[in-house]
Amino acid sequence: MNDLYYDMIFKRKSFHTFKGKKNLSESELEEIKNQIETLKPLEEGIKTKFKIVPRTETTCRWGEYAVLIYSEKKEHYLQNVGYMGEQLDLWLASKNIGACWYGMAKPKEVPETDLEFVIMIIIEKVGEEEFRKESGGLKRKTESEIWSGEDPEKIASVARCAPSAVNSQPWFIESRENALYVYQVKGKWGFMMRNAMTHFNRVDMGIFLLILEVCLNQRGLSFQRELCPETAKKQDQILTAVYKLEKE
Ligand SMILES: Cc1cc2nc3c(=O)[nH]c(=O)nc-3n(C[C@H](O)[C@H](O)[C@H](O)COP(=O)(O)O)c2cc1C
Repeated sequence: MNDLYYDMIFKRKSFHTFKGKKNLSESELEEIKNQIETLKPLEEGIKTKFKIVPRTETTCRWGEYAVLIYSEKKEHYLQNVGYMGEQLDLWLASKNIGACWYGMAKPKEVPETDLEFVIMIIIEKVGEEEFRKESGGLKRKTESEIWSGEDPEKIASVARCAPSAVNSQPWFIESRENALYVYQVKGKWGFMMRNAMTHFNRVDMGIFLLILEVCLNQRGLSFQRELCPETAKKQDQILTAVYKLEKE
């Protein structure tokens, strides 16, 4: 699965609109549900629920279905949702199912669950040709804007591809003494409100950690990950995780 995820980092893109020409079949919907069961959490012990509903049951205005993601509210739950949802985002690209993380919409009805609604991913069947071609069109920070220290395996060039809310890219990696220190930094917020971005940037960090780990695995680099306690302090740079790289 890691190789598939790795390849999909360069194929995936956000579908900000859909043509509405193709439909997902019952068997494809079943396959998506089965895939959801295989998603690995960032942190064990946080209850989550992924529910597929017709997109018309949400306030979003395009896409055939919405994958609603709910979670128990615990430390790291937003990063956990990002980490799990990004596995789904990458897998969907491999099946030519277009997707878009969608923070600006809500389900119309309050569900029968005590979990918190976190975010949805809008999906619709699309053609292979509608995905990103390897070379083009990626608007991202440069490698040196997101990385300091040595990078012999060219990890920054892959990690920088991670998607984020309003493309804010709220991440920075410091590489030193055989470890990677991953920080959440103040992203480019644009029109979004500060509170909303505090929420979404944590989801973004989970997405980033997933992409980073897929890249480390692909390079054959073993690691021990430690998630850092979430601090209530308002800082411009929050240490999110430390990866101790193990020499083989
Ligand atoms: C947590 C999160 C929330 C997002 N919310 C929205 C949204 O509400 N509307 C939208 O059109 N795109 C949304 N996006 C998609 C981003 O705008 C997109 O990922 C980013 O601009 C990078 O482009 P790319 O995914 O095509 O590489 C969201 C992405 C993430 C990760």
